[in-house]
Amino acid sequence: MARLLLLNGPNLNLLGRREPHLYGSTSLADIEQAVAADAQAAGHQLDAFQTNSEAALVDRIQQSAGQVDFILLNPGALTHTSVALRDALLAIGIPFIEIHLSNVYAREEFRRHSYVSDVAVGVISGLGALGYQLALQAACAQLARTPPK
Ligand code: DQA
Repeated sequence: MARLLLLNGPNLNLLGRREPHLYGSTSLADIEQAVAADAQAAGHQLDAFQTNSEAALVDRIQQSAGQVDFILLNPGALTHTSVALRDALLAIGIPFIEIHLSNVYAREEFRRHSYVSDVAVGVISGLGALGYQLALQAACAQLARTPPK
């Protein structure tokens, strides 16, 4: 059994109500529930955490050291701004997949740059809520290839 952590950054608590043409009509609670159920079916444990605060996100990542085997992360707008987020992920060295509901490459220019993509295992963008479940699937495949010690 591996320990997975699903992290969501600023404004993702508003999913379902926030710009549904971009982010869909599924709530974050529904996404978290679906991904946790998939993780459980695969024999893993998944915790979920959302925050609007960069500091709280960095704290949660730091606290994951030695406690978590794989991270699924939608950093929201912090994707495009946060060196602190990148540094926290590099400091703990836990593999992670970056997720975006919207296709960030089909939007404003500033969304095309991510501070974390080049250190992620992979990136899923533009597939809506399904992207979270696909990320979980990819994480499970990776964990099967390289089981946690
Ligand atoms: C997002 C894309 C970001 O650019 C944006 O700031 C978000 C959501 C997405 O899931 O598509 O908050 O990460």
